[in-house]
Amino acid sequence: MVLSTATARGVPSSRVVLLKEVDSDGFVFFTNYNSRKSAELEANPYAALAFHWREVSRQVRVVGKVAKVSRAESEAYFATRPRGSQLGAWASAQSSAVGEGALAAAVEDAAKRFEGKDVPCPEHWGGWRLTPFEVEFWAGQPSRLHDRFRYTRAEDGGEWAVDRLAP
Ligand SMILES: Cc1cc2nc3c(=O)[nH]c(=O)nc-3n(C[C@H](O)[C@H](O)[C@H](O)COP(=O)(O)O)c2cc1C
Repeated sequence: MVLSTATARGVPSSRVVLLKEVDSDGFVFFTNYNSRKSAELEANPYAALAFHWREVSRQVRVVGKVAKVSRAESEAYFATRPRGSQLGAWASAQSSAVGEGALAAAVEDAAKRFEGKDVPCPEHWGGWRLTPFEVEFWAGQPSRLHDRFRYTRAEDGGEWAVDRLAP
């Protein structure tokens, strides 16, 4: 999914992340807590998601507020990740400038440090949960009069209201 965040000043940035979980509490993705996206979310906890399924001409857009998932949740997911990804999470200062060769050296260091042991979840790695207060379902129609339904509710939850939107 595409995740858009913005700085406290409102300067936006977007990137693709893996949607790891979705349920009635929201949409969960995992990342480095020192990354650009996380810094923006710390400063401004509102974010937007976009999904596109070209083959079936569907789009879903989501707007909501984020909070970090529990430590236990991050650790449980981290433990299921391939060892290479786990070492990468220790080695990579995501979103920072990095010298050529420095990353491979950092991965090697991490591999040595945890040789013969399970790789623990770093403090700087974990999940964010976006709790939506706006969700739009867009369905492309051959007539070009595409269907759009927008669900909205209060930021702190409650009943959803639905509107049909002009395409
Ligand atoms: C298909 C795909 C999936 C990705 N999944 C993740 C992810 O789950 N978590 C993550 O931190 N970065 C993921 N990335 C990398 C991000 O797009 C991005 O490069 C990185 O998180 C740094 O973003 P930032 O500097 O804005 O924080 C993925 C990239 C692609 C193309």
